[in-house]
Amino acid sequence: MPRNPLEEASRALRQLGDRLRETAGPEGEWIAEQLERISTREEPRTDGDRSLGELQSELDGLVGLETVKEQMHALVAFLQVQSRRKEHGLREAATGQHLVFLGNPGTGKTTVARLLAEMYRAMGLLKRGHLVEVDRAGLVGEYVGTTAVKTDRAIRRALDGVLFIDEAYALARGESRDFGPEAVETLLKRMEDHRHRLVVIVAGYPRLMNRFLDSNPGLRSRFSREIDFPDYSTDELLAITAKFLAENEYRLGEGAAETLRRVLPKPERSEGFGNARFARTLFEQALNAQALRLARVEGAALADLDRDELMTLRSEDFIAAARAIGEVPRDPEARRSFWRRLAG
Ligand SMILES: Nc1ncnc2c1ncn2[C@@H]1O[C@H](COP(=O)(O)OP(=O)(O)O)[C@@H](O)[C@H]1O
Ligand SMILES: [Mg+2]
Repeated sequence: MPRNPLEEASRALRQLGDRLRETAGPEGEWIAEQLERISTREEPRTDGDRSLGELQSELDGLVGLETVKEQMHALVAFLQVQSRRKEHGLREAATGQHLVFLGNPGTGKTTVARLLAEMYRAMGLLKRGHLVEVDRAGLVGEYVGTTAVKTDRAIRRALDGVLFIDEAYALARGESRDFGPEAVETLLKRMEDHRHRLVVIVAGYPRLMNRFLDSNPGLRSRFSREIDFPDYSTDELLAITAKFLAENEYRLGEGAAETLRRVLPKPERSEGFGNARFARTLFEQALNAQALRLARVEGAALADLDRDELMTLRSEDFIAAARAIGEVPRDPEARRSFWRRLAG
């Protein structure tokens, strides 16, 4: 995914601050605070004030994810009622608003979390509705005393928005001298302190997340809803790829859809297969392959290519893309049948 230069710069500033904290003593701490203030101001925010309706139709426009959509609608309904109750001075429900997203990589967790953050803003429940995404490295320090500081910082950046902790199970490593549990303690405390200004979503592989939620007695009860993101079927991956194509003004040439179907992994794939993320990488590689193919055109200058050629991804582009990703089985027999399938 393309990185925003501002995001890069603010990340670099924060890293610099971290280094200073760890190496330069009290003066370092002061400078680090200043750097952090600068970088936090630059935190990219969800701009545009999209209405709840617009956000809901974007959610509904996502391919598949039927149960996720249903649960999101239920959550939004619940939150709307809570917010109305609050206007009438009625007591808020005891259940917190923190969530668990269970699913393999590339199943749409971050995408849905980002929309949900904006929905919170649209409902007036969070002031900014931005999403701060961190993983273990963004919360856990390497030295004694740095973890609580780091976790606090991530939380401060996320205030009035959503803190999305990817692969959260990595916080429960449990080796001795591991500071993961310290991050969890700090997090649980701040979730309570800031319960009206922060929504925390923890995400990751279902199996590992369940172990994580059981690793600390306070954890599971703090997360009121668990939402399952199933793997995509081949048809859904095709539809997702079609969406990428349409968004970027590309189209499939003759036979390319069939090739794509053969290249996309079968449903019996493993945990690490990458789902929609795989579809995106394949699409991006196909763009490269198309560019190489077009740049090679004998005689015809690039300038002569017509609109149609510039838009079309051919079957061979997807084969080159699959090869570039190395999506070729390791076992020789499987590899032979893979190429046979590709050859159609
Ligand atoms: N249901 C979907 N419909 C359309 N695009 C999707 C869908 N799910 C995921 N994507 C796209 O696939 C990519 C990976 O999704 P992401 O939300 O980052 O997955 P995760 O956070 O679960 O790893 C993103 O580019 C996203 O836009
Ligand atoms: Mg993600």
